[in-house]
Amino acid sequence: MSKKLEGKIAVVTGGSADIGLGAAKEFVVEGARVFITGRRQIELDRAVAEIGHNAIAIQGDASELPDIKRIYDTVNEKAGRIDVLFANAGFYEFQKFGEITEEHFDNTFGTNVGGPLFAVQGALPLLGKKSSVIFTGSIAANIGIPAMSVYSATKAAIRSFARSWILDLKGVLSPGRTVTPGPNKLKNDLIGTIPLGRLGTPLDLAKGAMFLASDESEYITSIELEVDGGEAQY
Ligand SMILES: NC(=O)c1ccc[n+]([C@@H]2O[C@H](COP(=O)([O-])OP(=O)(O)OC[C@H]3O[C@@H](n4cnc5c(N)ncnc54)[C@H](OP(=O)(O)O)[C@@H]3O)[C@@H](O)[C@H]2O)c1
Repeated sequence: MSKKLEGKIAVVTGGSADIGLGAAKEFVVEGARVFITGRRQIELDRAVAEIGHNAIAIQGDASELPDIKRIYDTVNEKAGRIDVLFANAGFYEFQKFGEITEEHFDNTFGTNVGGPLFAVQGALPLLGKKSSVIFTGSIAANIGIPAMSVYSATKAAIRSFARSWILDLKGVLSPGRTVTPGPNKLKNDLIGTIPLGRLGTPLDLAKGAMFLASDESEYITSIELEVDGGEAQY
């Protein structure tokens, strides 16, 4: 049986851990050659070893324009094009309304809005007509979560980018509460709010990313695919 991403070139920002790493692994299993990015070289090296083959790490900060340029220069040199861009790197921290600092705002918008914006814009010369561009959003864009208003607003902003760039984007992959090394106790306490009764896993998200990355979503563009066990739906 032919593989879904046979011979494709993929770039996954924030590909050294959790959701990004899960997607990078699946992309390679389905035949892609994958470039992963992240700020910490040690995590990138660990991820490349875990993926096993067809993975190349490029260190860089997704919110820094010179890093983005250097990353694409390397991709161009080694592969010459991008078939799948998964702009996944993201950051959150809790900060209550009334106590929101300028630093919190700048960091969150810089990574979660500036990062994907310049990741896609910088990739344009390497993207073809049939390339898939995917953002990682969040169900937080559509529901209220205490002390997460700035994060939620960043995810609403990239949802809006996907609509504005309808001819260029596949869509937004919006995870619900997903098992990662973060505050899983907090997430577990909220399991009762998830109709399917469990947290998501990076593999659940990777399957969603695969759908958007592959030809199976050929006639789909700019959608929001919520992989959330139904949490944002009721
Ligand atoms: N986990 C959830 O429950 C959940 C729910 C909804 C949405 N999301 C979204 O899903 C995406 C991935 O989340 P995750 O839980 O997998 O995150 P994670 O476990 O914190 O991993 C984040 C990945 O992104 C990289 N990264 C972070 N900031 C970066 C930056 N400025 N430049 C380059 N790389 C950066 C990290 O590596 P370095 O730290 O080494 O840079 C790491 O590889 C994010 O956009 C997040 O908002 C997650």
